[in-house]
Parts: sequence; structure tokens; C-alpha cells
Amino acid sequence: MPPRVRLLATGGTIAGAQATPAAAGYRAAVFSAEALLAAVPGLGELATVEVEQVAAIGSQDMDDATWLRLAHRTAAALAEPDLRGVVITHGTDTMEETAYFLHLVLPATRPVVLVGAMRPATAISADGPMNLFNAVAVAAHPAAVGRGVLVVANDELHFAREITKTNTTQVGTFRSGPRGLAGLVSHGRLHVHAPPQKHPPAPPFDLAGRTSLPRVDLVCAHAGMGRGLIDAAVAAGAAGIVIAGVGDGNLGAAALTAARAAATAGVAVVRSSRTGGGVVARNIEVDDDAAGFIAAGELNPQKARVLLQLGLTRTQDPACLQRLFDTL
Ligand code: SIN
Repeated sequence: MPPRVRLLATGGTIAGAQATPAAAGYRAAVFSAEALLAAVPGLGELATVEVEQVAAIGSQDMDDATWLRLAHRTAAALAEPDLRGVVITHGTDTMEETAYFLHLVLPATRPVVLVGAMRPATAISADGPMNLFNAVAVAAHPAAVGRGVLVVANDELHFAREITKTNTTQVGTFRSGPRGLAGLVSHGRLHVHAPPQKHPPAPPFDLAGRTSLPRVDLVCAHAGMGRGLIDAAVAAGAAGIVIAGVGDGNLGAAALTAARAAATAGVAVVRSSRTGGGVVARNIEVDDDAAGFIAAGELNPQKARVLLQLGLTRTQDPACLQRLFDTL
């Protein structure tokens, strides 16, 4: 009897359709979960896949409410005693954020695997069917247990914390940071690697009873930046601001003055980097101690935003928030 795996579908390009197979334009989230499964031969030998359509969106429309619903539905599936694992189909644009969010709120007792595609389901050489086949294989495999939320793409297996999208259109868009890949998966066969050092043993955040998340805005620094966007975020009621800073998480004098004022007013301010790599450490060119800022460490701006949203459900103290960034 093949193991049971639950497929939670949310849309994305993996469920997208074009007017003609060679067209560059397409609509995401057109096909149902059942239609996606029907396009994958041999899946029944890996697992009995049960489907639930949680959303039907392009992942640019992923939001807090959908995250909370998805986390709730995934947790409910994981609570079923004989369910082997969960696969979530998702657009690639914000996949890394959803994966990290779920990683921080779900137990690692059974595999949770996100999967998407860069080419729509109707495309020449669509990548979705093989990605989905591999994702079900990972979700059904005991070796995937205990590694937190994983992402399958292009024959690679990524840790939620490490993965990022690096290219607008190419099939090999996903990369993992210096801590590396979670493994490889080819034609349903797994080669798993050891979990990295930064891997919470239990979910650090509890969503029980939560119907919303704190507002955190993400502001990108640039040459000639003024204070307007930071002031606007504060005026709009942001509880936190992540700055995608230039270089080592820096920002010009006017923006820095606004960020200091925001922190003094009780808004959590995280400095991250727009460079796409490296570590933003405390007190290098900016006096974080004096300003009450938080340094994002290894997290890219979009993942720093996820952690700050969850961190603010627990504390507003910059020192406590910094400890979360240092450990998660
Ligand atoms: C999306 O993120 O929904 C669109 C892009 C994709 O899935 O590749």
C-alpha cells in the first residue's frame, strides 16, 4: 500500500496556462490540483496523493491571511497519524518566504515540501510535472523527516532558510546560500544532506488563536535615498521595518535619521542587505546599539521580514528580536 501524501495547492506558474505552448505570456493558477496530478505519470507508485485546494493565486498575491490558512491546513494534515508528508504547490516568486514562514511555525516531524515551476503547465518542456513527481517522492521518504520545510526545484532539494530565487525566468532560478543544499532528487530518488547548523529543533513560533500578523514593511535603500519611505511606513502603522540596505546594510544620512527616529518611537528596525549575499553584522558602519536596530545576519530582506513579523508576535524588545535573528 503506497503511503498517503496530502497535496495542498495554492496556484502559481506550475498551474499556469498560455494561449499557445510557445507564448511567453501566461496566466498563473489556472489548473486545479487534480489536473496537475493527472499530468504526472507513475505518481501512484510513489504515494496515494490526496488533494486540497487552499488557494488559486499567483504567489505575488500571497498574504498573511493565506499564510495563516496554509499553516493551519498543513498542521491539520500533519496531525493525521498515518499521513506520510505534505506537498504544497506554490508560485516561485514568494516561495522562499512561504517556505521560511512555514518552517518557523510547523513541527519537523514529517516532511513538508514546497514545489513550483518556472514554466506553465502548457509550456514546451514544462518543468512542473517532474518537480511535482520529485516533491511527492521527498514527502513520502523517511529520510526527509527532521529537516524542516524543504523546497524541490530542478532536481535540487533546498532548506527553507537557505533558498532564494535568483533569476526572473530560468528553470535553474533557485540557489541556496553558503550553508548549501538539503540534497538532490532525481527521478524520485533522494540523496539527502545533513541539516545545517541553523535548524530549530521545534517550531519557534505558535500560531494558535492568531488571525493576523504584525505589519512589517520592506524598504529598499538606494543612492540619494531620502527619509520619505521610512516616515511613510511609520505613518502607515508598521510595527516593524526591514531595510534592504546598500552594501553591508547601510543607508544614507537622511534615511538613517528617519530609521533612528522610527526605532526611538518603538518600531522594530532591521538592517539587511540588498546585495544578495553575505552577513549583516551589528555595529560595523552603523551604531546599532545606540540606534536600537537589529542586524539581519544571514537573512535576505524578504526572509528578515518574515522573521520580524513572527518575532513581533512575541516581543518588541530589540535585544530579544536580535537573539531571534542570531539563532533562527
Ligand atoms: C508565481 O509566483 O505565482 C508566478 C511565478 C512562478 O510561479 O514561477
